[in-house]
Amino acid sequence: MAARRLFHGTGPGVITPDGCSVELYQTLVPNGEPQRIHAAAGEGASILELGSGTGRITHALLALGHEVVAVDESPEMLAHIRGAETVCSPIQALDLDREFDVVLMMSYLVELADDDRRRALLAACRRHVADDGCVILQRQPPGWYDNLERGYERSGEGFRFRMKGFHRLGPDVVEATMEYVVGEREWTQTFVSRRMDDDFLESCLAEVGLTVSGLLDDDPGWIRAVPR
Ligand SMILES: C[S@@+](CC[C@H](N)C(=O)[O-])C[C@H]1O[C@@H](n2cnc3c(N)ncnc32)[C@H](O)[C@@H]1O
Repeated sequence: MAARRLFHGTGPGVITPDGCSVELYQTLVPNGEPQRIHAAAGEGASILELGSGTGRITHALLALGHEVVAVDESPEMLAHIRGAETVCSPIQALDLDREFDVVLMMSYLVELADDDRRRALLAACRRHVADDGCVILQRQPPGWYDNLERGYERSGEGFRFRMKGFHRLGPDVVEATMEYVVGEREWTQTFVSRRMDDDFLESCLAEVGLTVSGLLDDDPGWIRAVPR
């Protein structure tokens, strides 16, 4: 899988190495995620946010009273963050020599199809979480991989997001292309991702010294993991 390009993106403005558009992320607003994370983290918990983008979630977590350190490999994404410490680094290389009550890694980064890189991302989560803290991960619910033929489309005033196409590269691995239209601007992001069913997730976490301790709001798309 390492030989295949895992991500690419097209469209106006800066595109990050994982194919995300900075301009697109500037237009997006939270959709309940900060409140869900806040409820799981607890009042005043310190949060290390891995893959923060332009701060869509960061800013809301700050407003909810958390100290947040926002990490991203894209300086253009981080340039939009206000009020949080920012660190420009690949997650896999991060070594802050600090521990946090919560390490947050959203945006399905855990579904990276490259085993070594995924292990390195999860090891960074483990390195930075306090022994009595937790790691919050967002994944596609495993059924997502079985139902791609149904397609995905969400639209509203001035925007339309849809899955433009996909290829199954194996029973658990998919290459998908999303299309995002906002006003006159249009972007695509293509990514290869790997199904994270409960058993596979647990085995990936075990490799780095973590274990699943539950779901957020009983939602299989949001995992709470703790040090073993
Ligand atoms: C899909 S965006 C989501 C941003 C934010 N989590 C949100 O929900 O609005 C993913 C972000 O993660 C960053 N990212 C992806 N892989 C990364 C890595 N290995 N190291 C550092 N940043 C990464 C990208 O640069 C991008 O800003």
